[in-house]
Amino acid sequence: HMFGAERRNSAGVDLSDPEAMLALAGEIEAAAAGRPQAGPIIGGQLRSGEAMEVKNPADTHETVGSVVLSTAADVEDAVGRAARAFADWSGMRAEARAACLDRAADLMEQRRGEIIALCIREAGKTIGDAVAELREAVDFCRYYAARARTDFAAPQALPGPTGERNQLYLHGRGVFVCISPWNFPLAIFMGQVSAALVAGNCVIAKPAEQTPLIASLAVRLLHQAGVPGDVLHLLPGDGPGVGAPLTRDPRIAGIAFTGSTETARLINRTLAAKDGPIVPLIAETGGQNAMIVDSTALPEQVVRDVLISSFQSAGQRCSALRVLFVQQDIGVKLEKMLAGAMAELKIGNPAWLQTDIGPVIDAEAKAMLETHAQRMEREGKLVYRNKLGAECAGGHFFAPAAYRIDNLNRLQREVFGPVLHVIHYAADRLDEVLAAVNGTGYGLTLGIHSRIDGKIAYIAERLRVGNAYVNRNMIGAVVGVQPFGGEGLSGTGPKAGGPRYLHRFATERTLTIDT
Ligand code: SER
Repeated sequence: HMFGAERRNSAGVDLSDPEAMLALAGEIEAAAAGRPQAGPIIGGQLRSGEAMEVKNPADTHETVGSVVLSTAADVEDAVGRAARAFADWSGMRAEARAACLDRAADLMEQRRGEIIALCIREAGKTIGDAVAELREAVDFCRYYAARARTDFAAPQALPGPTGERNQLYLHGRGVFVCISPWNFPLAIFMGQVSAALVAGNCVIAKPAEQTPLIASLAVRLLHQAGVPGDVLHLLPGDGPGVGAPLTRDPRIAGIAFTGSTETARLINRTLAAKDGPIVPLIAETGGQNAMIVDSTALPEQVVRDVLISSFQSAGQRCSALRVLFVQQDIGVKLEKMLAGAMAELKIGNPAWLQTDIGPVIDAEAKAMLETHAQRMEREGKLVYRNKLGAECAGGHFFAPAAYRIDNLNRLQREVFGPVLHVIHYAADRLDEVLAAVNGTGYGLTLGIHSRIDGKIAYIAERLRVGNAYVNRNMIGAVVGVQPFGGEGLSGTGPKAGGPRYLHRFATERTLTIDT
């Protein structure tokens, strides 16, 4: 019980089982024929209006669905309704809210074909990534439901003098704003929203502009699972149109944001500048994630783990490896092996099972990456760059690349895509490597490959990161197993999928009674 035996993470789909895959492929195909519509969902009703088409990043001629953007009046309406619904929702027993999350998890599993098809077509996810995305969303719901049952169901009795009874209560804060990214359009969306809801808050969710369709489906499933229409609203739109007015609104009680460090700062400044209550921000932002490989590491294993960490999900994970520090004795050998392995990567339509790497999210992302690649061609040394086949012509594809650079100062900011930077270091200069990594100010993920326990401990103790992984890849944190989130420029905590996440969405109250 102590180790959470009452709850298991979901099993997902075994991609190597032909029968299971055939069944899934049928469900995905059936679902892909649909043309979903997204828009503001306020009080449980989808608002109509002038719709924009949502395009498939792997094939920009393909329309996946359409979205109506939220207006200022929608923002006003949603916040007002959420504020009025708060007393009833927060006054409910935690068990009733937790049961909604469990039902939402079940519904997501039942509708897996539709969800996976949308993750592929709207967000450019490979089948493997889409299956993992669904699993994580399901796990978040069940995990936070279980945490709410243990931590929120009854007040905690505290010691006090005889004749006095002391109790600590957790209570929802009010209207919580959840602003989520396109790179985990279901998992992070569901993680934020389900946590805020189960802790007793009403929620206004603002999904990333690129992925309103998945968010819209998620909200409909939560409503179907029993969350009242006025407790959860969806406002698709961009930062200036929706995020900014929500942030400035005097009626909101908290913001959960996952996205860029710059946007987190902007939200923070806006919150700080307004009158009224002091509003907490839970921010999960970027990284400049490093892996440190010494000469005792197993090169084959390193190559496999680097490939996964840098290029899976087209490098569009905040956890992804950006800078590989390799001890110079094995640097050239490792680069050769890496180049050989990269040459095997299949880049193309994410709907095909054999595809390793799909498109990046949009034209802007691709342009940013190409600009960076051009700079690296000049300033670095090419280790390897893939070539794109004809099947990539119609989408936002970016050929994965690896460059050797001389030092970390060449990278001013996070490069959010399938680009790896390699730096060779001399064995007696490990401390400078550690100082450089800490010096970025980010602190999200870290990889270490070494067979010397003392060195592993030495590095892990000195680097200020949220999630360190030794002798394995450094992505794909599992709910309840590797609670996820960083420090410094990477975020505020608490860790998503961890035992203290819900608490930041709640306020604490004590009640002292003389008996
Ligand atoms: N939770 C994700 C991961 O661990 C975030 O990018 O990969």
